[in-house]
Amino acid sequence: MPADPLLQPYQLKHLSLRNRIITTAHEPAYAEDGMPKAKYRAYHVERAKAGVAMTMTAGSASVARDSPPVFNNLLLYRDEVVPWLRELSDACHEHGAAVMIQLTHLGRRTRWDKGDWLPVVSPSHAREASHRAFPKRMEDWDIARIISNYADAAERVAAAGLDGIELEAYGHLIDQFWSPLTNDLEAPYGGSLDGRLQFALDVLKAIRSRVGPDFILGLRCVLDETAEGGLTRDDGLAIAHRLKASGRVDFLNVVRGHIDTDAGLTDLIPIQGMASAPHLDFAGAVRADVAMPVFHAARVGDVATARHAIASGKVDMIGMTRAHLADPHIVRKIMDGREADIRPCVGANYCLDRIYQGGEAYCIHNPASGRELTLSHSVEKAPGRRKIVVAGAGPAGLEAARVSAERGHEVVVLEASGKPGGQLRLAAQSPRRREMLGIVDWRVEQCQKLGVAFQFDTWADVEAVTAHQPDVVFVATGGIPHTEVLKRGDDLVVSAWDILSGQVKPGADVLLFDDAGDHTALQAAEVIAAAGGKVEIVTPDRTFAPEIMAMNLVPYMRSLQRSNVTFTVTYRLQSVALDGNRLRATLGSDYGAVDQDRVVDQVVVNHGTRPVDDLYFELKPLSRNLGAVDYGALLQGATQADLRNPDGQFDLYRLGDAVAARNVHAAIYDAARLAKDI
Ligand SMILES: Cc1cc2nc3c(=O)[nH]c(=O)nc-3n(C[C@H](O)[C@H](O)[C@H](O)COP(=O)(O)O)c2cc1C
Ligand code: SF4
Repeated sequence: MPADPLLQPYQLKHLSLRNRIITTAHEPAYAEDGMPKAKYRAYHVERAKAGVAMTMTAGSASVARDSPPVFNNLLLYRDEVVPWLRELSDACHEHGAAVMIQLTHLGRRTRWDKGDWLPVVSPSHAREASHRAFPKRMEDWDIARIISNYADAAERVAAAGLDGIELEAYGHLIDQFWSPLTNDLEAPYGGSLDGRLQFALDVLKAIRSRVGPDFILGLRCVLDETAEGGLTRDDGLAIAHRLKASGRVDFLNVVRGHIDTDAGLTDLIPIQGMASAPHLDFAGAVRADVAMPVFHAARVGDVATARHAIASGKVDMIGMTRAHLADPHIVRKIMDGREADIRPCVGANYCLDRIYQGGEAYCIHNPASGRELTLSHSVEKAPGRRKIVVAGAGPAGLEAARVSAERGHEVVVLEASGKPGGQLRLAAQSPRRREMLGIVDWRVEQCQKLGVAFQFDTWADVEAVTAHQPDVVFVATGGIPHTEVLKRGDDLVVSAWDILSGQVKPGADVLLFDDAGDHTALQAAEVIAAAGGKVEIVTPDRTFAPEIMAMNLVPYMRSLQRSNVTFTVTYRLQSVALDGNRLRATLGSDYGAVDQDRVVDQVVVNHGTRPVDDLYFELKPLSRNLGAVDYGALLQGATQADLRNPDGQFDLYRLGDAVAARNVHAAIYDAARLAKDI
């Protein structure tokens, strides 16, 4: 068999990289006090252990106090970071992975009310839409100060024993200098392309003066902004050639696009339903033109595409960043001939969207990523084999079945419908969200390999469950939509699920009351609009779709803005009544506005789900623990040992939306952390 191109080593100056797969910079917002402490370290070490060639730590680690953290960035302007970085790099090196770090000054891509509340700076007053600060236009003393801040930070990195540095130059200060859209300074730091490049060249020179000529230094840089008036591809190639000619740059990590808006960011880092590897050819063209080591990442989510990227010579190192959040063991699985076992990244972008909400990056269907200290990526065998019945084959049920089977238990799954997946199947009705089925399919395949028995079209009542004489029962029966939210007229409305499942035909003139603010409402609106309907989405919240985060909203807006869909915020549907053969919907407001009426032909309500919990409550008196979960044990990772009913026949646990409406990650996390100790 020919050697796998992905597993071939690569020599970058003195640094031997053991294969071609890297994780590119991604700030997972795990820092504690701005430092990469135990949680941060454990995350990178897991990937190093499993074979990644290089892990680019941080993402946008801040070099200066006036580049305050907007997503819990590492603070490289502090000396105390050195020992923390040293521990992290030593621990990764022990497992054979190279370790670099991305440094940046965010320029205008931050907020003035973070950190030390210093003025936000940029080479012009142009505001970045995403972070909303109106920047101060930089003065000579800002420029000189920040150049030495870069050099100081680089010295800290070298002192910590890392293998290299990457400077962030897309959407951040360095390329804010490059782009005519964000630099209206005059020479020497503005004006011509040479002037606009001067800041970057001065930063490189200052860094080299501290770390020497051998230390590895690269740029992750935009070489085509794809924005009117911004850097063109020709500008980008000219920049790349000048960087090479400086003799101070060892690699280019090629980026295409702009990140000043949510839409731009989403084209640069595409999510599910968007093209795979859309900028790979561009990266290849840069490599061919400039003849420098080229790294690249942008939705190369599967091994076949990564292999193509290397085999075709488009890039030297390929980033599989979100793919490693979904499965940190990709390289090991390739080496072991177990590619089929790789947990797929389904492009849900829960990870990246969360950091802009101030949360840590978590993968929608791998709850262990970022929680390595408390939840292992590998399931340990249980001391004894037990009989486990799982009711429900949605995400929580499938995860409970998978983990239990990995533990070595005998597992049977009872599912009322003919197929696994639960609510994920509804989400995947949208062609754009079809990849969500990967969450289901991967679990079903893993379960089948582990010998889990599935009984579909099987109603799990008490008899069906107890007939298996289980030791443990997981009830993961999910939820059903709840539409009883009106003062009058609940019987006249349909649920968003009815529309998505096709049980109710979309109306022509529809009021969609969204009191949950999640995907279901916008997905239903898309279905109605696609059928030719007009939709007004009404929400009592101060923004629409508050549970859909920035990048996930982009594809919805692209489709809904082209359709006959409008949004009304801060109004609450009060009641619905018949009006001839139409419906009169009355809207009120929490703010005291006068009621308004709409006459439409369909009212759709999206108000989350209520638990389907009959089975749980029927089983409860028969169980040893009466359904109770010992949260202390759960959070410490200890075995559940509740025996409040010693005469009970089995232990009983309820998971996911069968407890309360949450999301896929919560459902899978519920199951993973409980089942691993059973
Ligand atoms: C949680 C998260 C944070 C990120 N933060 C950064 C960052 O700080 N700097 C950066 O250059 N890229 C950042 N990225 C982008 C990744 O480096 C990468 O370009 C992107 O995820 C596309 O590659 P992928 O499809 O292999 O995930 C981040 C990505 C994620 C998922
Ligand atoms: S949340 Fe989605 S995009 Fe992010 S790593 Fe997980 S599967 Fe991939």
